[in-house]
Amino acid sequence: MSYPLPGDKSRALLARGLPHLRNGLWYRGASEKSAGKGFQAPAQMIVGRAAGDYVWDLDGNRFIDLQNGWATNPLGNCHPEIIEAVHQAHKQYGFQWEHPLRIPLVEQLAAVMPGQALPRFSFEVSGTEAAESAIHLALCYTQRRYIISFSSSFHGEGLGTKMVSAYNSDNNLYMEAWAGGVLKAPYPYSENIPAGMNQEQYVEYCLWYLETHIPDFVVPPENVAAIIVEPGLAEGGNWIPSPAFLQGIRRICDKYDWLMIADEVLTGLGRTGKMWAVEHYDVVPDILVAGKNLSGGIEACAGVAARDEILGDNPRATAGSTFAGTPGGCAAALKTLEIYQRDNILQQAAKLGELAVERMAGWPARYAIVGEVRTLGLLMGVSFRAPESVAEDFHVARSVRDAMLRRGVWAICDNEAQVRMYPALNMDKAVLLEALDLMEESIDEVQRKGITVGDYPPMPSGNVGF
Ligand SMILES: Cc1ncc(COP(=O)(O)O)c(C=O)c1O
Repeated sequence: MSYPLPGDKSRALLARGLPHLRNGLWYRGASEKSAGKGFQAPAQMIVGRAAGDYVWDLDGNRFIDLQNGWATNPLGNCHPEIIEAVHQAHKQYGFQWEHPLRIPLVEQLAAVMPGQALPRFSFEVSGTEAAESAIHLALCYTQRRYIISFSSSFHGEGLGTKMVSAYNSDNNLYMEAWAGGVLKAPYPYSENIPAGMNQEQYVEYCLWYLETHIPDFVVPPENVAAIIVEPGLAEGGNWIPSPAFLQGIRRICDKYDWLMIADEVLTGLGRTGKMWAVEHYDVVPDILVAGKNLSGGIEACAGVAARDEILGDNPRATAGSTFAGTPGGCAAALKTLEIYQRDNILQQAAKLGELAVERMAGWPARYAIVGEVRTLGLLMGVSFRAPESVAEDFHVARSVRDAMLRRGVWAICDNEAQVRMYPALNMDKAVLLEALDLMEESIDEVQRKGITVGDYPPMPSGNVGF
């Protein structure tokens, strides 16, 4: 099977968007250049309908959904119970700030936080706002000026989160001056491990950089407020850190009295097979950032959890925009947590993750274009390279993602040389295995025929190309 993408209806609507949407000119230029060299544009579609493990495009083509609303639909698309809960909240409260659902939700969140040590929660609309709020909270609480973040990290698209993110050297272009309070440290998992070092040695080097280099040569330790880290680097390449690295960060934070902020916007609420990714590492952060899955895939809900003293008495750290913690968002989160418990969702996710890793384990040996399979639960990524090269290559990754879409499997490949997959935590086992079979066919095709998608620089916003 191979869908001719985009289908007629999707193509017509995409054409209407080109003159108005962000980067339409860029997209048209890249397409013309690419076509001139005989490459095809990345396959695109627009979702016409979504249900459970699938989405359908405007033309009625069906896709297995591994894109998952950018990892926001933990229980599959349009979960009827969550829709109903949100609908009830809309009917009863419309939008009011002082609705009653916040309180049962913060009680429940406190009960599921790592070590039950983060009992306070502050609502935000998006992961971006929540990450910014966590940073503000840390600066105000410690009354210090610097935040340490990592290369390849992604924390959002607001001005503050752009400053701490570093997934490539361009993402702070023209804004460098705004990042005065940010110290970027190397993340030990990347393509760029110094020659002659193995992975463990590079982890040690990166911890030395935090523990010795920054305090001795960059900023006195008593002026650093916090380290913000993703315990599973999703956007930056689906790298899964080792216990040594995250436990090392915890130890260094304790030594210098720095706060550890775990950005669990993508990894949290079951994505890795545990409620929080930090639980794989036996680490309890001081502040945790949550979002995405908390929405139940229906209505945005995000926020920051923290230790009692950090969030319980810190009036300088103002937070929470108008639409933070809406009735619908809180209703979605409450229903999502209820279903997690009732249906053993974390166990389901962990089992599915094991199945997936088993299915993909042989790929690096079998296919010259496959670099690594990087997974933790259902945080799944496969890196790609050109057959004769050791360097990761996003044209190859994009061609695989393209071949997958044409076969009816929707996955992510935007800025990176990986295909990333975030199935629903309760995806049907057979559907997940079918998707991975189709992915393997796609890998085989790209390995035999070479890349099909060329000449597109990193895609500004992924799937539809602009
Ligand atoms: C780790 C991490 N933090 C923050 C964000 C930003 O969240 P949002 O897109 O909801 O603003 C993302 C989004 O992908 C993320 O992956």
